[in-house]
Amino acid sequence: MTLASWIDFQSLQDPRGRLIVAEADRHIPFAIRRVYYLRDLHAAEPRGFHAHRDLRQVMLCVTGSCEVVLDNGRQREVVTCDDPARALLVDRMIWHEMQNFSVDAVFLVFASDVYREDDYIRNYDNFRHAVSSTR
Ligand code: TYD
Repeated sequence: MTLASWIDFQSLQDPRGRLIVAEADRHIPFAIRRVYYLRDLHAAEPRGFHAHRDLRQVMLCVTGSCEVVLDNGRQREVVTCDDPARALLVDRMIWHEMQNFSVDAVFLVFASDVYREDDYIRNYDNFRHAVSSTR
């Protein structure tokens, strides 16, 4: 079983360039309540290292590339985001880490809720404990 769930956005190419579309309901499986993006990233400075209790997120590299580590407490997988028309669904209670950013990487995230620190689990042992107690 793979932990990675990919969403293909609509991609429209013509001689003027490429237009990529993400629509509510069709591509993003939740109501978007926040959009944020990461840039000026460094290959040697991974980010994330948390899970969310309820938040759902769809993430992609608009330019450049990075790796995303996905972990459900039993299984760990590393995937590459390098396609601006292909996004990764990171569901609730998935530990995730972003790493190996290319110098030009811009990492865009659609989120199902506003920022709430109390939705984060930032300690891996606490995350393992939380997932094992819900099984
Ligand atoms: P964090 O989620 O830990 O970043 P990353 O997962 O990319 O390593 O957030 C870093 C800081 O920014 C932290 O103090 C919380 C704050 N923050 C907000 O205020 N609003 C937001 O929407 C996000 C994502 C983070």
